Amino acid sequence: MQKKQPHDNGGSRIEISRRTFLHNTLLTGGAVAGAGLFQTFTTMNVAHAAAGSFSFAWVSDTHLYPKTLNTRFIEKAGRAFKEIEEMGSSFDFMIFGGDLAQKGDPVELQLGVDMLAEITSVKKHFIPGEHDWYLDMGEAWNRHFGESPWMFDHKGVRIIGLNTVGFAPDYWTAKGMSPKERMGHMEALDGSQAGPWSGLGREQMQWLSTALSDWPKNEPVIIFSHTPLYEVYPGWNFWVRDWRQVHEVLAPYGNVTNIHGHVHQPLYHETDNARFIGQLATSWPWPYPPTGVPALTRPMIRVDPGDIFDGVGWGTFDVTDAGVENEYKMWRKEVFAVAQHDSGTGDNGNQILTPRIADRDWTGN
Ligand SMILES: [Fe+2]
Ligand SMILES: [Fe+2]
Repeated sequence: MQKKQPHDNGGSRIEISRRTFLHNTLLTGGAVAGAGLFQTFTTMNVAHAAAGSFSFAWVSDTHLYPKTLNTRFIEKAGRAFKEIEEMGSSFDFMIFGGDLAQKGDPVELQLGVDMLAEITSVKKHFIPGEHDWYLDMGEAWNRHFGESPWMFDHKGVRIIGLNTVGFAPDYWTAKGMSPKERMGHMEALDGSQAGPWSGLGREQMQWLSTALSDWPKNEPVIIFSHTPLYEVYPGWNFWVRDWRQVHEVLAPYGNVTNIHGHVHQPLYHETDNARFIGQLATSWPWPYPPTGVPALTRPMIRVDPGDIFDGVGWGTFDVTDAGVENEYKMWRKEVFAVAQHDSGTGDNGNQILTPRIADRDWTGN
């Protein structure tokens, strides 16, 4: 009997393709020698029978401040939107994946609306981030961009947009927080007062289950969410708190791709039936969590944190008979690590602890 492969789910087989290999080679300028390369891939393919090929764009985490306060994030969001507009005819649609604003301020959201209006060459879909939501509990967001979750079918793929920020337990009423204080806690990376705010909640979980119920089990499903649908790092809410139930709901479906923002960094994770692809922010790259990154992640090095275009950008996806393929439109592509020990991600197998560069340079006493 033939041995079952680790990611063989019977109908949809996850595999590294030559095209993906070449793509990653190009990203690193061809300097990809040495062992460990395959363990650092950020993209993989899933064989499936799509009814037609198509591409789409993802942009998220623009974190716009009012123009009067800070324009460096506006500048970078503008660059991404301009590039998408110029490439618009290559895409069937684009997704804005949340955290358009920094503090949920109506001025910030309106600025985002105005900037996004400059994109006219491609259809836009929206899901919210926590920075858009907790000042007024999503009122302005929903008015501007419509409610979520939502779903549609496109060329043989069921496409779902979740709201992973709008169903937090109420951490604020008993503490008598003002809307601004609530927003302040929710926008903090390690929000100790905010608790595990990210999740689908019972009602949306039921909605997801129903949304998939008439879909053939081995046909492709793409799910967009602001936060990842697995536990990257709960301490920073790099997860949905009810991810176990999400995985139970998704378990019968053999070909699921979750594309998420929020983490502001490339991340790649797989389970038997699903893959999870973390996207860049246009605003800034977060550091990797202290527990490291998923084993299949191709990490970034941070060559120059002083360069505002370092480690940021947007993403494109090609959906073909061969699968879903991700390309990071990172404006400084050389920040990808080419070997495990370059990653600096903090996990033991992925970092040289000593001597660090600083240790080598510092010879005085
Ligand atoms: Fe963000
Ligand atoms: Fe976020």
